[in-house]
Amino acid sequence: MTVQRTGIYPGSFDPVTTGHIDIITRSRRLMDRLVVGVAVNTGKSPLFGFDERVDMLCAEIADLPSGAGMAEIEVRPIEGLLVRFARNCGASMIVRGLRAVSDFDYEFQMAGMNARMERDIETVFLMASERHTFIASRLVKEVALLGGDYSSFVPERVGRRLAEEVERHRERKASAD
Ligand code: PNS
Repeated sequence: MTVQRTGIYPGSFDPVTTGHIDIITRSRRLMDRLVVGVAVNTGKSPLFGFDERVDMLCAEIADLPSGAGMAEIEVRPIEGLLVRFARNCGASMIVRGLRAVSDFDYEFQMAGMNARMERDIETVFLMASERHTFIASRLVKEVALLGGDYSSFVPERVGRRLAEEVERHRERKASAD
C-alpha cells in the first residue's frame, strides 16, 4: 500500500501573489495532496473578504497544469489552530515560503510552536524563487492603494480585482471625508 502524503500551504492570501503561486507550483511536486489553507481570521484587517480571497485563489489554481507527479490541490478554510487543521486533513507537513532573513524570526517561532503542539507534522520551508523574493501581499496592497504599478506582482485576474477594490476604497474614503 502506498502512503498518501498530504501537505498544507497556509496563508492569508490577501490577495494571492505570483510568489504564492510559485510556492504552490513547487510544493505540489513534494506530496500527493496539497491543501491550501486560507485563514478565515487573518489577525490583520484584510482588504479582501474570505470568500473573495478564496475565489481568487481557486481561479488561479484552476489554471495550473496538472499531471503525473503533481499533487491534487484543494482550497479549504482554516478557522482555528493551524496544527489542528493540519491534523484533521491528515497532513504530515506544513509548507511555508521564505523570502528574506526578515521572514525568519516569525517563521522560526511559528514552526517551533507548531512542532511543540504537533510533533508529527513537519514545517518545510521553500526558498522563494529569485523572481519573487521581494513580493509580499502587504506591500502589493500598499503600492495599489498609493497608485503604483503592481501588475508584475500578482496574476492578471487578481490585478483586475485589486484595481476594482482600490477604486471602491477611494470612493468609500471620499464619501467619508
Ligand atoms: O500569509 P500569512 O498571513 O503569513 O499566514 C499566517 C498563517 C495563516 C499561517 C498564521 O496566522 C496561522 O497559522 N494562523 C492559524 C492560527 C494559528 O495556528 N496560530 C498559532 C500559530 S503558532
